Amino acid sequence: MTARSDMLLALRNRQPGYTLSRAFYTDPEYYRLDLDGIWHTDWVFAGHDCELTTPGAFLTLQVGDYPVVVVRGRDGEIRAFHNSCRHRGSRICATDHGTVSRLKCPYHQWTYELDGRLVYARDMAADFDPAQRGLKPVHCEGVGGYLFVCVAQHAPDFAQFRALAEPYLGPHHLTEAKVAFESTIVEQANWKLVWENNRECYHCSGSHPELCRVFPEKPTVGGLDGATSDPENLAHWERCEAAGLPSRFVLSEQGQFRTVRMPLLRDTVSYTMTGRAAVRRPLSDAVREDRIGSMLLFHYPTTWNHVLGDHALSFRVLPLGPLQTQVTTKWLVHKDAVEGVDYDLADLTKVWLATNAQDMRIVEENQRGVNSPAFEPGPY
Ligand code: FES
Ligand SMILES: [Fe+2]
Repeated sequence: MTARSDMLLALRNRQPGYTLSRAFYTDPEYYRLDLDGIWHTDWVFAGHDCELTTPGAFLTLQVGDYPVVVVRGRDGEIRAFHNSCRHRGSRICATDHGTVSRLKCPYHQWTYELDGRLVYARDMAADFDPAQRGLKPVHCEGVGGYLFVCVAQHAPDFAQFRALAEPYLGPHHLTEAKVAFESTIVEQANWKLVWENNRECYHCSGSHPELCRVFPEKPTVGGLDGATSDPENLAHWERCEAAGLPSRFVLSEQGQFRTVRMPLLRDTVSYTMTGRAAVRRPLSDAVREDRIGSMLLFHYPTTWNHVLGDHALSFRVLPLGPLQTQVTTKWLVHKDAVEGVDYDLADLTKVWLATNAQDMRIVEENQRGVNSPAFEPGPY
């Protein structure tokens, strides 16, 4: 039996409400199917517009087998390309981000304009046609300050996600933000374990003392069951919507993405040890209401997000191998907020740096246990 038919059979026979079977979290052939069927096919969160403020500013990411570079052109457009030289294939941009005047390959210095055209290739044959050797484009779309890429030949629809996310993200003006801090960790675990841990807060009270100072761990917060009948949620949504902030729980038809604005505990407003704002300068001038809680947004398979009144947090999940996953967290504040004046970096980052480290330990232990041949799916 091939891995593919094996996987399909396992999915068909899966007991509802139970975890997947061991191979989904461990088997290199299943991982290959994940790459081909999900990561190489779907939209993947790359980064934020505000990270690419000037022409030539770029960021890179690895989408399964594909190195990708996202760059702002001289015309202000943001484009994505395969980060692989059209000469002999070298990666062109080797760093996570940077700013260049042109994209120059480090191997033999072939040089590309920011729109991907090849503009310099030394000593080539007389019949060499640079027009045939431009960088290969990657689909790139943006919504509310978020950039997504898709390496497939034909990208799936993006309009549905845009329609859902735009009104929620819009008032927060994230294109006017800056990244105050970012952290990248590599967890020794399958990407689905990283996600499953993120999608439940059953573990929160036992693991996240810092987060639990402000984040309500009850399942109706952002959960599927009872979210829309929880009186606290309803009151919060009404108050936020009266202030012009779309807030109600919305889940896409296939369950791939969801957004909701949820209240934080008591009178807290931010993910800090005190629950008070970490940043004095509000994230957006368009948001006047103080107690807006957190806007939660996820989009499978790459990103979950929290947007607060004073800052926003984005998380990006990328698989590096069957048992290895990269998680990048970015803390966004208003672009004019000044470190040391409007915010203290340690105060801003403490809760989620701690939470990420706790989740990493949890997820890695989960992987070690799932690796056991004695593991069998358990109830969610
Ligand atoms: S591989 Fe890029 S210039 Fe040769
Ligand atoms: Fe957690």
